[in-house]
Amino acid sequence: MQTVRLALIGFGNVGQGFSQILLERGDIYAEKFGLRFLVVAINDMLRGSAFNPDGLDLAACLRAANLSDLPDGTPGLDVFATIARCNADAVVELSYTNLKTGEPATGHVRLALESGKHVVTSNKGPIALNYAALSQLARTKNVKIGIEGTVMSGTPSLHLGMELLAGAGITRIQGILNGTTNYILTQMESGASYAGALAEAQARGYAEADPSGDVEGFDTAGKVAILSAVLMGTSLPLDQIDRAGITGITNSDVEEARANGQRWKLIGSLEKKDGILLASVKPVRLPLGHPLASVSGATNAITYTTDLLGDVTLIGPGAGRAETGYALICDLLSIYGIY
Ligand code: HSE
Repeated sequence: MQTVRLALIGFGNVGQGFSQILLERGDIYAEKFGLRFLVVAINDMLRGSAFNPDGLDLAACLRAANLSDLPDGTPGLDVFATIARCNADAVVELSYTNLKTGEPATGHVRLALESGKHVVTSNKGPIALNYAALSQLARTKNVKIGIEGTVMSGTPSLHLGMELLAGAGITRIQGILNGTTNYILTQMESGASYAGALAEAQARGYAEADPSGDVEGFDTAGKVAILSAVLMGTSLPLDQIDRAGITGITNSDVEEARANGQRWKLIGSLEKKDGILLASVKPVRLPLGHPLASVSGATNAITYTTDLLGDVTLIGPGAGRAETGYALICDLLSIYGIY
């Protein structure tokens, strides 16, 4: 049995979803894979910090309003001491997403890699803005960086693209990459107002803390930048992505599309044409027969167009607590050689 010690930087929705999975399935993972995941440290901006080199009581951490009040464990370290000096083998970076600067997450990820720790993260900021430098640093330090949760939550879009389709020659990527906007557009088809559907998406935990990032298309643009850096080998500044969101789409636009056998979808797209990479995010009216037209609610989908296989489409959850928590499990199992 191999013990894998983890430090969680951020204990919001995703950190709690991940912890819940470990509580419910930790024994199964130990039996099935010979890996025992042990959370030794948690730091959260709002809930404080806790550290116990022998492992924290995760159920108690989930219950605690303030992690510093936990009866077991030494008091928590500050965030940089946790990352650099605690006895974790891997840092799970889940601080808030900032697509403008990538901070503070990029600093956390860099410090973890420099300290010889693996990193798994669902944080889009550092990967959209700094993937090339961070993956180079990871190689130099002989550690790994897992990023599955940055696109389509736990639906393994990046493992599919990076590994299973690596030799197939990806020439185009198109996807519904934002759960909030797809949920809103779907609800509007049933007559809900834009504002009511957005409030519901927020209540369900799909939306970003600032939902303008979702509805204006910045979140999808961040994911397009990640796909570009990871799968097309091109770092794409976000302002070079032709971007529009769904804020201009009204109930009558939705109704008009429906009357014409079409549906509005917010599509992120990347395509290599004559040696040039074209990147965009925009609402598109798709005919109902299009593979992406039937993807509804917070569900996401991605179509890889490849030289050898033609189109390969993957459909699955794109947001949510447990769904994103699973992406971190997926990365950890990959880093520790399960697949
Ligand atoms: N706000 C994002 C979405 C969360 O709605 O898809 C997952 O990246």
